[in-house]
Parts: sequence; C-alpha cells; structure tokens
Amino acid sequence: MLGLGRMKRRELLDSLNRVAADRRRCEVPAATEVLAKMLTSGARTHRIYATSFAALLLLSLIFAVVAAGAVDEDTGVGPPPTLAPGQAPPLPKPSPLSEPRSSSQVGFPTVLTGYVISPSTLGPARVALGQKLFFEARLSGDGTVACATCHDPARAFTDGRPVSVGIHGRIGQRNAPTVLNALYNKAQFWDGRVSTLEQQAALPITNPFEMGSATIDDAVSRIAADQDYQTQFMQAFGRAVNEQDMLSAIAAYERTLASFDSPFDHFIAGDVSAISNSSRRGWELFNGKARCHLCHALTDNQPDITLLMDNDFHNIGIGILRHHVAPLAQRAERELAQGHLPAIDTVAITSEMSVLGRFLVTRMQSDIASFKTPGLRNVLVTGPYFHDGSMQTLWDVMDHYNKGDGVTNPGLDKDMQPLALKEPEIDDVVAFLTSLTSPQYKAIGDQEYARQLALSKVSRPQRDTTRAFGPRPQQPEPSPF
Ligand code: HEC
Ligand code: HEC
Repeated sequence: MLGLGRMKRRELLDSLNRVAADRRRCEVPAATEVLAKMLTSGARTHRIYATSFAALLLLSLIFAVVAAGAVDEDTGVGPPPTLAPGQAPPLPKPSPLSEPRSSSQVGFPTVLTGYVISPSTLGPARVALGQKLFFEARLSGDGTVACATCHDPARAFTDGRPVSVGIHGRIGQRNAPTVLNALYNKAQFWDGRVSTLEQQAALPITNPFEMGSATIDDAVSRIAADQDYQTQFMQAFGRAVNEQDMLSAIAAYERTLASFDSPFDHFIAGDVSAISNSSRRGWELFNGKARCHLCHALTDNQPDITLLMDNDFHNIGIGILRHHVAPLAQRAERELAQGHLPAIDTVAITSEMSVLGRFLVTRMQSDIASFKTPGLRNVLVTGPYFHDGSMQTLWDVMDHYNKGDGVTNPGLDKDMQPLALKEPEIDDVVAFLTSLTSPQYKAIGDQEYARQLALSKVSRPQRDTTRAFGPRPQQPEPSPF
C-alpha cells in the first residue's frame, strides 16, 4: 500500500507544482487542482487512489520534462534549436571548455605565439576578468547578449548558425568565426576591418544587431556599477573600470585560446598512425591536386601546419551570384565615403552591402566580394561554412572548390579552377580536415562527422561533376562602374 502520510502528500503536491512550473505549456495545474481536492477529501480510498495517481503523474511529468529538455537543449552538434521570433539565443554558461588553453599542447607554435603576444599582458587577473566579461550580458543594451552568445565554448566558440542572431533576435549577415586561434589573425573579421582583438571587441558591443548598447560608455558604466568588477579591475590594472582596460581584458582572455593538439599535430610530431590513411592522402591532395595550399598556407609552395591560412583576402565566389554587386558597390561608395569604422561595422552586419566583403574597407574594385581566408583548425565543429554560412557540410565545401565556382563572376580569384577530384579524393580531403580537431571537441566532432556524412549521402547541392571535370571556363572581364 502507498502509505503516504500527510507530510509526504504535501511534498508530492509541491514537487508536482514545481515540475509543472518548470514545464511551460502544460496541463498540469488543472490536474493538480483535482488531485489536491482528492488528497484533502475525507474518503480513505480516494486518498489512496489519489496518492498513486499523483505518483504516476509525477513520474510521467519528470519523463516529459526530460524529453522536452532533450528537444530544446543544444547538443552542440548540427544546427542549434530554433528561436522564437524576437528572441536572442540563450546565453551559454561557463564550462571547462571556456578555460584558457595550455601552451604545452602538441603543435603549439611557441615562436609565433611569442611574436604575437607579450606575456606581461596576460596576467592571471586580466585573463580571469576577460573570461568573466566574455560571458557578461550586461555589456548588451538589454542585458541578454554576451560575446559567448555567438561564440559558445561548447561549439568551439561559434554558434552553429548560418548567420548570427543578436539582441531582440535580430539576424545578421555573417557567420560567426571561431575565437579559437583568433590571436594569430593579422586581421579580424571576414573583411579584416580591424587588426587587433582590442579593436575587434569594441564593435559588437554597440552593433545594433549584436549586443546593441547605445554607446560603449553605457556598457562600461553598467560594469562599473558592480562592486566585484571594481575590485577585479583594480587587481588586474590598478585602476577603476574603464573602456580601454575592459577591452584589454577581453583580448587577454582571447589570447589564451590557442587550440592545437589535434591528431594532425600528433601526426606531424612523428606519430604516423595518429591520423588515418585517408587523412594522410587528404593532406597530400590539400597541398597538390586540390590546390588548397594556394590560399590555406603562408606561401604558395610551402605547406603550413600551423593555421592553414595566408592572412589574405580572396573572392572565391561565395554567394556572389545571388547579388548584383555593382549597384551595391556604388551605394557603399556613397554611404561609407567617410570610412568611419562603426559605419562599416554596421553595414557589414546589418545590410545587403555585406556581400561586398573587403571592398567595404578598401573601396577597391578588385576587393569586391573578397573575404579573409579563414584558418581551418577545428573546422569540423565550426560549421556551417563560409562568411554567409551558406554551406552545411565539408562535402559541400569540397564540391564548391571542385567545380571552381563562379564561372560568371569576373572578380573570381585566379587560383580558383575546376579540380577534377574524384569522390574518394573528396572524402580524403574531408578526412584530413577532420583531423584538425582539438581533443576537447573530439566527441562532438565524431558526432558532427557522422551527421555531415549522413547529410552528404542525401544532399550534395553544390556538386557539379560536369564542371569539375570540364575545362576552365572563360572568365568575363570586370565591367567598370
Ligand atoms: C550576435 C552575435 C555576436 C556577438 C554577440 C559577438 N560576436 Fe564576435 N563575431 C560575430 C560575427 C557574425 C563575426 C563575423 C563578423 C564579420 O566578419 O563581419 C564575429 C567576429 C568576431 C571575431 C573575429 C574572428 C575572425 O576570425 O575574424 C572575434 C575575435 C570576435 N567576434 C569576438 C567577439 C567578442 C570578444 C565579443 C564580445 C565583446 C563578440 N565577438 C560578440 C558574432 C558575434
Ligand atoms: C583562392 C584562395 C583559396 C583556395 C584555393 C582555397 N580556399 Fe578555402 N577559403 C578561402 C577563402 C577566401 C575562404 C572564405 C570565403 C568566404 O567565406 O567567402 C575560404 C573558406 C574555406 C572554408 C570554410 C571555413 C569556415 O570556417 O567557414 C573551408 C573549409 C576551406 N576554405 C577549405 C578549403 C579547401 C579544402 C581547399 C582546397 C580544396 C580550399 N579551401 C581552397 C580561400 C581559398
């Protein structure tokens, strides 16, 4: 018999109500009301039935909550859960994945790192402060969005969305790159509109589609009102809260996010079996027939094992065919005549002129639709791909390169051409790319690989075998505008 005393029944009811409160859109209040009546009514049989019913209801509710959680929860693999209109994405919590990375990782570029950062700026107090600020939603206009919203450590510091969503659910024009290894970038953003991490960090805070603070001073004063921050700034910089130190702290934290130690690094360090035969063939192709090293290496004729990028900008035909760039370029010339950085930032994130890429910064015709070559570290877990997040899988990326996209694109980089890669060769390059995943992301990387592979079996929207194996098309001349 379910011999629950009055106390127990009360607890049961309380927990039912709590579960019900947890679960939005649930019929439970009505059910609990009936139960409450039964439990408090005089008849003994009523009470016994009611108690058993309540226990069952509680079990099924717990199950429902767990199941609902499974639907709503972000697994870190594939697209994140969809958002209600007008809603910013949920703010990720700090976790072991948000901790600074060790400098004793296999493949850690000691010389390069020493060259790009001075250790005196990376004191533990600064880094800890920067790490806290990275998750600080009070930097945004309405207290809902932090850097981590779009650079979620659980997703290798990206958001898994084609393009980022910010304050009030506003949808931007560009895909969020990872912050891992951003310390090595010579230029930040897809169009390289700033060069340092400090300059970079200031822009999203006031961008109306990202964190939407009216001014950076507003954001700083919200932080300055907090006693813990006052103490932490004093410890880290020996003075009161101010904009410059706030940005330095965020940048200091980002400079601790070096990500190596991948199977590929172990392979390069001499452990030949650290990567599969397929990945090894992929690495050969990457530096040969597939021509990837022409941009994903520091020089055309030397493979690069560190970041796999050239710190340069190219038009490789992403999204270009969907847009008439000439009128957009003329508009940008007019609207950005002053060359003010916040204006460029706003246009890049909020307007159709975003597709002009590097042109927004240089206003040179040859830079129309050119974007920064991204590093390829952890690329398996930083999709969807390219500046507009237009490609779902690494097979789509390969199909794009294989056909040498952009036949009718006069600005297409001269290094783009049909590659005539066969299917097993495409698989090999993908296998190589997956070997660049750091150990923290191995588990989600394995799941993401399985997801992309399954998707690629049913959907290869970029594949065009005829063009991939055909001649290099005649490129039209750019028309003056
Ligand atoms: C609403 C989403 C969003 C928020 C919030 C956000 N970012 Fe970003 N971040 C992006 C997008 C999108 C880009 C690329 C934009 C572009 O290239 O025009 C980017 C670019 C970057 C880059 C350049 C990386 C590279 O490889 O070029 C860094 C570094 C960065 N963000 C750090 C931060 C920091 C620090 C904060 C908080 C102060 C922040 N982000 C807030 C979405 C966001
Ligand atoms: C002509 C220069 C060039 C060549 C050749 C090239 N890339 Fe790229 N790659 C780029 C640029 C530039 C981008 C960003 C373009 C954009 O988003 O508009 C990019 C983006 C990528 C991305 C997307 C990364 C991300 O974070 O979204 C992957 C993956 C990639 N390249 C892999 C390769 C592979 C594999 C090859 C060889 C088959 C290759 N690339 C050849 C310049 C090049």
